[in-house]
Amino acid sequence: MPLIFCFSKDVLAIHSRWRLEFLRYLNIFETLYSFERRATVLSETGLRERCRTLRKLRPKAANHEVATMTHPAVNMSVKPDVKGFFDEATNTITYVVKDPGSNACAVIDSVMDIDYAAGRITFSHADHVIADVVARGLELQWLIETHVHADHLSAAPYIQEKLGGKIGIGRNITIIQDTFGKIFNEGTEFQRDGSQFDRLFDDGDTYTVGTMPAFVMHTPGHTPACMTHVMGDAAFVGDTLFMPDSGSARADFPGGDAGVLFDSIQKVLALPDEMRLFMCHDYGANGGREIRWESTVAEEKANNIHVGGGKSREEFIAMRKARDAQLDMPKLIIPSLQVNMRAGQLPPAEEDGKTYLKVPVNKL
Ligand SMILES: [Fe+2]
Repeated sequence: MPLIFCFSKDVLAIHSRWRLEFLRYLNIFETLYSFERRATVLSETGLRERCRTLRKLRPKAANHEVATMTHPAVNMSVKPDVKGFFDEATNTITYVVKDPGSNACAVIDSVMDIDYAAGRITFSHADHVIADVVARGLELQWLIETHVHADHLSAAPYIQEKLGGKIGIGRNITIIQDTFGKIFNEGTEFQRDGSQFDRLFDDGDTYTVGTMPAFVMHTPGHTPACMTHVMGDAAFVGDTLFMPDSGSARADFPGGDAGVLFDSIQKVLALPDEMRLFMCHDYGANGGREIRWESTVAEEKANNIHVGGGKSREEFIAMRKARDAQLDMPKLIIPSLQVNMRAGQLPPAEEDGKTYLKVPVNKL
């Protein structure tokens, strides 16, 4: 059973470096001794003491060992077939991930087309994905959202209606629903409990795609609900990382935190070096190269311009804050959030039978 930790906000904010180290070692401890579920409130001193004690118990745990022991479900011998579908309008990549042992598949981060100026939605990108699944005779079992996207609208319900499958997202969707439910002045009919989704994932949760085991790592920082999904030797990192020459995603949305994002990136980089990493976005290094969306843990550790080569947490936070202060709001953040917090559904029709998207004035 996973452990539950209750940290004070101060401990989380000020001592998260210790917290990460503590969690790494305690995860090993948990695997070795199968602790029962419990809640612990620790001071900084307590955290330091636990780290020292656990380090003595296992003084030279390499990152690879940590990842393997933290997530016993890592199985690099399972090599799913991964096909990416690039959406030029939003620079998003949708993935069809096929279980090598069966015809089952998952679709990760689908895209609905929108002409925001005209208020018109279509599904040409999603139709390409559907056509591929149908042409290969695949059975769609999961529609995964790595997070609540702010730059594109999900097409998950549209694809689900055609092909079936369950829509899953991180449990902290409830935080996003609460935050943006207020911003969009949603009424009580808008549920803030994540019930629009078929599955809410917690850190460490496992599921299967056909015969292929998959597990989930909570990787917040860009948003509170960000999850990395690991299937065999492939990890779908959402916006936790970008290609090595493009660094990382912003951490200035409500609930975002640069330090927490750095810690989440370390969790991803603690996976085996050969793990394939698939990005949710690529911008061609601002037009400097062709679009790419696949790297490895080893490549990111060595070359990522924001975290590679052993850059410190403090360096990362300073860089991220300076960069984020220069960024404009994503063009589609207003329609995206209204739709994506509803699992890709449009808001309910009004009394004329039509659906409307709001623009909150001076609230974002
Ligand atoms: Fe994002």
